[in-house]
Amino acid sequence: MLGNDLSGKDLLERLSIVLPTYNERENIIPLLGQLLTCTNDYELEILVVDDDSTDGTTQLVKDLSSRDRRIRLIHRVGRSGLASAIKEGLMVATGDFIAVMDSDGQHEPKAVINALNKLRKDNFNLVVGSRFLKGSEIRGLSYRRTGGSTLANSFARFSLPEVYSHLTDYMSGCFVIDLNSCDSLVRKVDVNGFKFLYELLSVSGGKISAGEVPLTFQPREYGISKLDMAILWDFMISLIHTFTFRFLPRRAISFALVGAFGVLVQLISTNIIMNVMNYKFEVALPFSVVIAATSNYLINNALTFRAHRLKSLGLLKGLLKFLLVASLPVLANVGLATTFYSVVVSNAVLAQMSGILVVFVWNYAASSRFVWNTP
Ligand code: GDD
Ligand code: MN
Repeated sequence: MLGNDLSGKDLLERLSIVLPTYNERENIIPLLGQLLTCTNDYELEILVVDDDSTDGTTQLVKDLSSRDRRIRLIHRVGRSGLASAIKEGLMVATGDFIAVMDSDGQHEPKAVINALNKLRKDNFNLVVGSRFLKGSEIRGLSYRRTGGSTLANSFARFSLPEVYSHLTDYMSGCFVIDLNSCDSLVRKVDVNGFKFLYELLSVSGGKISAGEVPLTFQPREYGISKLDMAILWDFMISLIHTFTFRFLPRRAISFALVGAFGVLVQLISTNIIMNVMNYKFEVALPFSVVIAATSNYLINNALTFRAHRLKSLGLLKGLLKFLLVASLPVLANVGLATTFYSVVVSNAVLAQMSGILVVFVWNYAASSRFVWNTP
């Protein structure tokens, strides 16, 4: 009996379904009900990856999983993010095939089964449920979001290997994958933000064979979408990361963009302090430097380092540390630029660029380490 079970003979093939959840208490019950009855052809394993929801989703799924062994809960504390939840689910899943879908009811179980059938019939490594294919329908997205997704898809298509140009929805959260054929690539996926699928295609260098099936994207019944500005920012960073051959760390790209914005803030502040408030340059400069550094700090805290975001008193302490970290290289910057100018080449722009580069590397490394306590 045991031998028979372990040999796997006479058993159905296994389908794992990964459901990332964050505050989906009302949505998860009807979805689980639909999923548990959606197929007789596979033995199901449903992996709910929950990031310590605050609305009771975690306990609810725990209770359900104690009653039905096909349901398993992965309860994550201190980690978060859709892409990282998906990756974790994929790494834990034991199925021969694995489906990933939203847990708010916007993706239909039917689409997952269609995707699975297509994957098997046409021997794909991956099949995506697309919102933009012929036969798809979008019922649950505002015009603005639909436009945004279309635009994001165009950028994504442009940045990804040519072999994926036939795909229509790189942003989809619904897909079926034959993990055995892509395991080493899934391991490499950088899990910032929402876009697991885009990242997977991006790291694959064209090695994954991918197809699509149409999807009807339903409206959300309960709760709200978790897609926000920070997630859009992550996606922009992802695009730049892909365009620059994945050479620079994403966090460094984000830090650099925030820094560039800080330059603007400084120029504008100086201008206002001098021309509107009528102070001299020497007075205006130190103020605007502090204003720019503070705005850099707050934006980095909200975007670049939001996984380690500082709050209340920690936020204030962090600001002081950030100002300290940022003030040290000012001297180095001046020193280096002067030396570069006199010793290497007498080109003011190049000399300043070398100074800025050193300041950037220092600020990034030191504030990662000392302000946000990350390696
Ligand atoms: N575990 C976990 N952790 N789950 C999360 C997190 C998180 O930090 N953030 C979101 N989720 C879960 C939600 O509970 C939901 O089941 C699913 O991920 C999608 O999140 P929504 O907040 O419903 O996203 P959406 O409907 O606005 O976005 C849709 O379109 C995006 C592309 O435009 C989804 O289909 C996304 O998957 C898709 O990338
Ligand atoms: Mn949704």
